[in-house]
Amino acid sequence: MKMRTIDPKTIATRDLHQFLLGSVAPRPIAFASTIDENGNNNLAPYSFFNAFSSNPPILVFSSNRRVTDNTTKDTLYNIQKNKEVVINVVNYNIVRQMAIASVEYDTEIDEFEKAGLTPIASDLVKPMRVKESPAQMECIVDDIITLGDQGGAGHLIICKVVKMHISEEVIDEKDRINPHKMDLMGRMGRAFYVRCSGPNVFPIVQAVTQIAIGFDALPEHIKNSPILTGNNLAQLAGLLEIPKQEDAAELLKDESIKAMYELPNASLMLHNYAKQLLDDGKEIEKAFQVLMLGKDK
Ligand SMILES: Cc1cc2nc3c(=O)[nH]c(=O)nc-3n(C[C@H](O)[C@H](O)[C@H](O)COP(=O)(O)O)c2cc1C
Repeated sequence: MKMRTIDPKTIATRDLHQFLLGSVAPRPIAFASTIDENGNNNLAPYSFFNAFSSNPPILVFSSNRRVTDNTTKDTLYNIQKNKEVVINVVNYNIVRQMAIASVEYDTEIDEFEKAGLTPIASDLVKPMRVKESPAQMECIVDDIITLGDQGGAGHLIICKVVKMHISEEVIDEKDRINPHKMDLMGRMGRAFYVRCSGPNVFPIVQAVTQIAIGFDALPEHIKNSPILTGNNLAQLAGLLEIPKQEDAAELLKDESIKAMYELPNASLMLHNYAKQLLDDGKEIEKAFQVLMLGKDK
C-alpha cells in the first residue's frame, strides 16, 4: 500500500476536515433537539457523536465553529443557555428529513416544521423529541469543552442521559434491539451515507473471556497461504484449540476430499476448499483440518 502522509499543520482545514471525515466513518448521527430562551425549537444533525459511558450514561457530540466564517451554531448557543438537549437517532425513514434540518435556517426558524417532523414533549427536559425517531434520549448537559477558537474547532458537548425512549417496534422478544428494524444511518465523508440493515449488517461472534489461539499459533503453511485472506486466518486464530492431526486425517474418508488430496495441486485445492468453508462461516474447525491435510503437499 502506498500511503499519503498528511501533516495537519500544513494542509487547509477544509481539506483536512474531509480526510478526517472520510477516514473516521461511518459515524452515528445525533439529531439534536434544543430550545432557545424564547421557546423556539431547534433541530440539527451532528455526526461527531458517540456514546462513551454506560454508567453514568454519557453521550458526546461536537458542535464546530464553521470553517467558512468561524461562527458557532444555534445548538451550541441553546445548550450554553439551558444545558438541555434531546438526542434522537436517525434511521433510513427520516434520513432525507434530517438533511433538510441541517440547512442553516435563521435562529428563530423551527427545523421540525421545515423538515416535516413531529415534535413531542419530553418527560424531564424542555426540548422536544422527534416522534419519528426510533430512539430518543433526554439529556442534561454535564460539561462543554471548547477545543479552539479558529474555524473548524469543536465544542465537546457532554450529555448525561436522564431518560431513554425506544420504539417497541425495533425491540425483539428477547428485549434486544434488532439492528435491521432499527435501520440506522451512518455518515461518511462528503455527501455519503450508509444504511445499516440488510446483508451489510452481520454478527462476528468472538468470545472474549475464552482464550483464542491467535495468529501466532497458526502453522506456517497456513499463515503463508496464497489463498486465505487476513479475515480467513482470523477465523482460524479465533478457535480455542488447534485441531488434532488424527482428526484431520479422518477427513480422508470423505471421497471428494480424498480426491482433492490426491491431485498434483492438492495444496491449492485444499486451501481453496478451506476458504469456501471459511467464507460460508459455519465450519471453521473443518476448514482448519482441511488445511492441515495440505501441510506436506
Ligand atoms: C449528517 C450531518 C452531520 C453533521 N455533523 C455535524 C457535526 O458533527 N458538527 C457540526 O458542527 N456540524 C455538523 N453538521 C452540520 C450542522 O448540522 C449544520 O451546520 C446545522 O445547520 C447546524 O444547525 P444549528 O445552527 O441549528 O445547530 C452535520 C450535518 C449533517 C447533514
